[in-house]
Amino acid sequence: MSKPDVTVRPLAELTTLRVGGPAEIWTMESDDQFPEATSAPYRVLGNGSNLLVSDTGVDERVLKLGRSYDDGRQFGGQADVWLGAATPLPGLVRRAKEAGLSGLEGTLGVPAVLGGAIAMNAGTRFGEIGDVLEEVELFTGGEVVRLPASDLQLAYRTSHLPEGAVILRARLRLQPSTPERVAAAMAQVDAARRGQPKAATAGCAFKNPPEDSAGRLIDQAGLKGLRVGDAMISHEHGNFVVNMGHATERDVRELLDRVRTTVGVPLEMEWRAWGNATQ
Ligand code: FAD
Ligand code: EPU
Repeated sequence: MSKPDVTVRPLAELTTLRVGGPAEIWTMESDDQFPEATSAPYRVLGNGSNLLVSDTGVDERVLKLGRSYDDGRQFGGQADVWLGAATPLPGLVRRAKEAGLSGLEGTLGVPAVLGGAIAMNAGTRFGEIGDVLEEVELFTGGEVVRLPASDLQLAYRTSHLPEGAVILRARLRLQPSTPERVAAAMAQVDAARRGQPKAATAGCAFKNPPEDSAGRLIDQAGLKGLRVGDAMISHEHGNFVVNMGHATERDVRELLDRVRTTVGVPLEMEWRAWGNATQ
């Protein structure tokens, strides 16, 4: 049995918002490393694109699936395919288009790896990863098990994984189409995303309230450009917080508190929060 590589790094380096203190990062390269790695409290990190991490970091081990769980290069257009959970979603979307396979278009622009996309059921109103998910292979309860996608109860930006489960692989089923049709569907999604910022961010901070858009509510409340330290509400989209340089978790939390108070409509955070909130 090989040993996972273990290093201590600030999670700011491993998250797209670029916020977060240190953690022990365990880079996992084979299934047989999981029993030892999960013998103490742990968390699972995908691409870190939906996380708000405490400035003091996290006490738990952070398990990150390494290169052997990235099957991006092996994916050459199979309609029914098992892929490792560290496979980056953007590459899959591109390759599926080239192969004329439909089903992933709605996830265009989501900077996730497959495991993180499934855990969050990432997508847009044009489609979600759950639309093409058939089965998952998990490390859970000390063993590797396969579950049908229906067992995860994927819904809007949420899943119900067994407590502590790590997604190792997933089976996707795509629909035969043509590169032209898939490209046309992607163009629609791309157009809908054009108003989003290209900056250090973790995507939308809040889930949309039923039948409404949190971004629109925040915009209407006049909060674009509101800034606490280096954390700012994007001028482009009201639901995106951008890190203008050296934002801290504390800055971000204060900014979100001000937004909630001003908007007046209950807003549930979409991001997953890790570690003790800095006071
Ligand atoms: P992480 O952020 O690392 O983790 C998210 C959660 O998944 C954590 O709870 C983590 O523990 C869990 N997790 C990760 N990997 C595993 C695994 N292998 N096993 C078990 N649990 C795991 N989201 C959308 O839905 N739609 C969008 O349009 C969208 N646009 C975005 C645009 C930008 C610019 C950014 C930065 C983010 C956007 N997001 C969007 C948010 C984010 O990309 C998604 O939530 C995505 O699914 C997170 O995936 P990740 O791999 O980064 O996971
Ligand atoms: N709007 C504004 N001002 C803003 C933002 C939006 O007036 O600052 C208006 C728009 O003009 C539009 C409506 O609100 O009429 C909806 O906006 P948009 O199409 O941008 O969609 P959204 O509901 O704000 C959702 C997802 C995004 C996803 C886009 C794709 C949530 C919380 N957000 O945003 O997902 O990329 O649709 O169109 O579900 C994410 O989850 O991280 C994320 C980025």
